[in-house]
Amino acid sequence: MKCRLFIFSVLAIPFFFISCQSGREQTDEVKNPAEVSKAKLDSLLKLMTLDEKIALIHASSSFTSGGVPRLGIPELVFSDGPHGVRHEHGRGWFALEDADDKATYLPVGICLASTWNKDLGYEYGVVLGNEAKDRGKDVLLGPGLNIIRSPLNGRNFEYLSEDPFLAGEMGVGYVKGLQEQGVAACAKHYAANNQETDRHNIDVIISKRALHEIYFPAFKAVVQDGGAWSIMGAYNKINGQHTTHHEYLNNEVLKGEWGFDGVVLSDWASVNDTREALLFGTDIEMGTELRRDLNNPVYDEFYLAQPAKEMIESGEVDQRYLDDKARRVLRLMYRSTALSDHGQGKRNVEEHQQIALEVAREGVVLLKNEGLLPLNTSEIKTLAVIGHNANRQFAGRGGSSQVRSLYEITPLEGIKNLVGDAVEVVYAEGYEPYYDESLFADRTGVAASQSRENSRDVALARTANKQLMQEALELARRADAVIFVGGWIHGHDGLPWGEGTYDAEARDKLNLKLIFGQEELIRQINSVNSRTAVVLMGGSNVEMNNWLPDTRAYLHAWYPGMEGGKAIAEILFGEVNPSGKLPMTFANSHKDYPSHSVGEFPGDKTVKYTEDIFVGYRYFDTHNKEVVFPFGFGLSYTTFAFSDLKLTKHNQKVVVECTVTNTGEREGAEVVQVYVHPKQASVDRPIRELKGFEKVHLAPGASAAIQVVLEESAFKYYHPDELRWVLESGDYEIQVGNSSRDIKLRGDVTW
Ligand code: BGC
Repeated sequence: MKCRLFIFSVLAIPFFFISCQSGREQTDEVKNPAEVSKAKLDSLLKLMTLDEKIALIHASSSFTSGGVPRLGIPELVFSDGPHGVRHEHGRGWFALEDADDKATYLPVGICLASTWNKDLGYEYGVVLGNEAKDRGKDVLLGPGLNIIRSPLNGRNFEYLSEDPFLAGEMGVGYVKGLQEQGVAACAKHYAANNQETDRHNIDVIISKRALHEIYFPAFKAVVQDGGAWSIMGAYNKINGQHTTHHEYLNNEVLKGEWGFDGVVLSDWASVNDTREALLFGTDIEMGTELRRDLNNPVYDEFYLAQPAKEMIESGEVDQRYLDDKARRVLRLMYRSTALSDHGQGKRNVEEHQQIALEVAREGVVLLKNEGLLPLNTSEIKTLAVIGHNANRQFAGRGGSSQVRSLYEITPLEGIKNLVGDAVEVVYAEGYEPYYDESLFADRTGVAASQSRENSRDVALARTANKQLMQEALELARRADAVIFVGGWIHGHDGLPWGEGTYDAEARDKLNLKLIFGQEELIRQINSVNSRTAVVLMGGSNVEMNNWLPDTRAYLHAWYPGMEGGKAIAEILFGEVNPSGKLPMTFANSHKDYPSHSVGEFPGDKTVKYTEDIFVGYRYFDTHNKEVVFPFGFGLSYTTFAFSDLKLTKHNQKVVVECTVTNTGEREGAEVVQVYVHPKQASVDRPIRELKGFEKVHLAPGASAAIQVVLEESAFKYYHPDELRWVLESGDYEIQVGNSSRDIKLRGDVTW
């Protein structure tokens, strides 16, 4: 709950009163957060001095930007993060120990995307909006919309997909759900922020076509379809200019072509130049002390503080640039809880935990099942649960997305709760995480990263814990079934978040090899117990060729949130039928991905996106490259049939209709994926691109009629030379399937 000053008349002499969110008396204007007119914003601006306007456009503490107390304009209050409202910092940088900041920890972004359930995207946003509002936040720093270009990016877990359409659709629901509670979304990080290595300086060399077809569309969708009130710039440069103050990205595309009237927020310490920030679209600068003096932040010295004031006073930059920023900030305040009453929020309520559970149930992906799952408690006397991750909590790590979770059900707890007294559950850790700073000493450059990779392999062999392995194997031998829970982790206890290896901010992975000796452990377990199911956590895949062939069942659980352990258990024992589908291709090695085999990753000062638009399945499918599990893939305990494809073209739209039938014995859900395949093209185009999908829940034997409408834009490409979207006439095949490599129905349309 928060109390703050509210303006209710800007035309009369300003009149203030203290307002709390409950039981206050308000004018209609305050009660109804309708869009505020430009005239009204302008009249408010007229009341402000230069200093007051400047105050609005830079930080006033670690997570607030300045207000104008004289006019009753409050500070804007921001909070991370994308899957739960982050702990309290007060005005400084360190977590407050005694704050009332426990929150709902939702499954991470990539798990949300794996549900392919747009309604859950919306519900997820509603949870975050209510929890942010309850904690007095006006802007929530999410969703993370960066495209998964390489599986090594340390922040892939926060992002949604390798596919721009899927990322956009899930992002739009999230943004709407969040903003309907009065909390502004801040979609991040705009744009092409696809690696953590050298993130403040790396210069992405990329074509405009790749930007418009791959890296922009999810942002465009949340702006135009989701109505996002703010967007966060990124750290990296694109073609020589920092994205946070990028003339093309912000002025021409976002605020020009897409008509965005919200706020471009910097990432924390992503502003590098006052003049560019003034001219090229940065509206609020945050976090600059992170790169200067963290313990003694002088907000007046931010790029958009005193230096900006001087540039405007000297006439070097016209005052209208500042007015435009201030107007946008005020508009955001009126839209959000900062200056409008959106009622009370709520936090840590059962319905939020239920959404966390639903997302985990639908987001965990069953990738392999050779007659092992679901397990049956009546056939198991002793169950061995093995693996450090079975007993590890994940909420509090990973970087800025960390959450102080009210609780977190681990897989071990989830399994024990589910089987109760019916089964004896024995647990062994099996392997242990370790951390060796020397392996991560130098973060920049390809050569450095390769030498780190080699030294890490050596260290891995050295540190796999033989004793833990033996203990685990003994349990596995005498158990009737084994559940191994391993995979990636966010980081290590006691280390600052930036030092957390693997799935963490500021670090990329070195390769996809299973860490801490797990590969050998899985192989050994498989050799002593053939009834072994493998559950892996993590924001990406791992190398699978050495253990998957002998593994009968594999479930990828990402980081499934506070109820994740329960959802995993329910899926393993068949109380829930899995329906998650991969939002990224799982190839065996990072070297198979186009960002590594065609383009560069992580580059050295510059990183060339030579693979251009051929990212993820667009590359693997077009060039017929081997993958382990394709984009969109995920198993169920039931089976589905697709039939009766009908395509109708009218009013410049194509209506795709088909029937899906649950042909198995269990209730389940299937995702109907609609891809467009241009049969001929005058430029290189991917063999297929996802342009529509629907998830459908069906009882055994039941059928549903599915309809997906494809707009004209679904058939267009961005012309590499003419730099505009083009609809080429000719034949297009509509492909309907349940993964990019399992197309079940095909039909043609002609433009
Ligand atoms: C991250 C952002 C985050 C911000 C504030 C930055 O380091 O890149 O995603 O929202 O910090 O914590």
